[in-house]
Amino acid sequence: MLHSRIAGTGHYVPDNVVTNDDLSKMMDTNDAWIQERTGIRERRWIDPKTGDSPSVMGTKAARMAIENAGITADDVDFIIFATLSPDMYFPGPGVQVQDQLGIKEIGALDVRNQCSGFLYGLSVADKFIQTGTYKNILLIGSENHSGGLDKTTRGRGVSVIFGDGAGAVILQPTEEKDKGVLTTHLHSEGKYAKELALEGPNTGHWVDKMIAEQDPEDTSYYPYMNGNFVFKHAVTRFQEVIHEALEATGHQPSDINLLIPHQANLRISQYIQAKMGLADEQVFNNIQKYGNTTAASIPIALSEAVQEGRLKNGDLLCLAAFGSGFTWGSTLIRW
Ligand code: UT7
Repeated sequence: MLHSRIAGTGHYVPDNVVTNDDLSKMMDTNDAWIQERTGIRERRWIDPKTGDSPSVMGTKAARMAIENAGITADDVDFIIFATLSPDMYFPGPGVQVQDQLGIKEIGALDVRNQCSGFLYGLSVADKFIQTGTYKNILLIGSENHSGGLDKTTRGRGVSVIFGDGAGAVILQPTEEKDKGVLTTHLHSEGKYAKELALEGPNTGHWVDKMIAEQDPEDTSYYPYMNGNFVFKHAVTRFQEVIHEALEATGHQPSDINLLIPHQANLRISQYIQAKMGLADEQVFNNIQKYGNTTAASIPIALSEAVQEGRLKNGDLLCLAAFGSGFTWGSTLIRW
């Protein structure tokens, strides 16, 4: 059976750096609180004048992944785009990438699984490659959080955490049996959907809420997160789903050469690292620079890890995510 391998990686983040001190001018917060609770020092927020958007940033990341894979945009035969912040309510940004890359009328699939979106997309791509359906799948995670955050003290528990950016990979088949994606694991628990959600634009009440009421007290258009509750579930589910992937392939935590956890909170990553007995060099974090970029966080981190030479031929790479839904997932990849 064919395996899928990551043949190229890319990422793009907006130039506009927003430090914790910058945030303290917008709301009642401070650098010490943010660093102590989350590890975040700064994040990138789109400058609207630049024209960046999830599809535009995704296309920029895609061009880098395509180049690094040694192919051209015309070789891409399927697009998967994971985001919770699409340019438009519909259609999703997958079709915009098809247009922006100027490629032929290939299929474009949009994935709505928030922080786990990249891993859900990877799992789908892996199955298409295994069955021989496609040979060069472009998988993108991209988010514009800054356009929709409550940047007042009322929203500080959420808005200091999230950043903008995009990451992309090209997946190709390999006949090397022990290489590439070894296993994928996906989960959901919808009873906690409202613990981390943006309820606002929904088909039940969007017209009356958005146009008729114009209520300044209405926070339903801003993301809500029950932070402590999400944190406790995250640290449990991350570990469970990483162990699930290890057990499915007969590996131990010590076999992992690099774990890239979804960059939700540095404290979550450090907690998982300690519980699993992993050394610092076995875990990659860049949330300090970018904040939590949801579906983009794993592919941005992967692209940076590749640039920094953190992955060698034959290394065992583990990717894991947890987030809104709740949804969570993992994969093990032999690099
Ligand atoms: O990516 C998807 C998954 N997401 C996650 O995994 C995130 C999980 N949750 C978290 O990372 C943490 O819960 C947060 C970083 C969001 C919050 O940290 P916390 O330690 O759970 O803080 P808290 O919400 O319990 O708030 C503690 C205090 C409160 O004040 P009082 O009630 O103790 O007086 C908050 O009002 O900190 C206050 N606070 C802030 N203070 C300064 C909340 N946000 C801020 C802020 N700056 N930005």
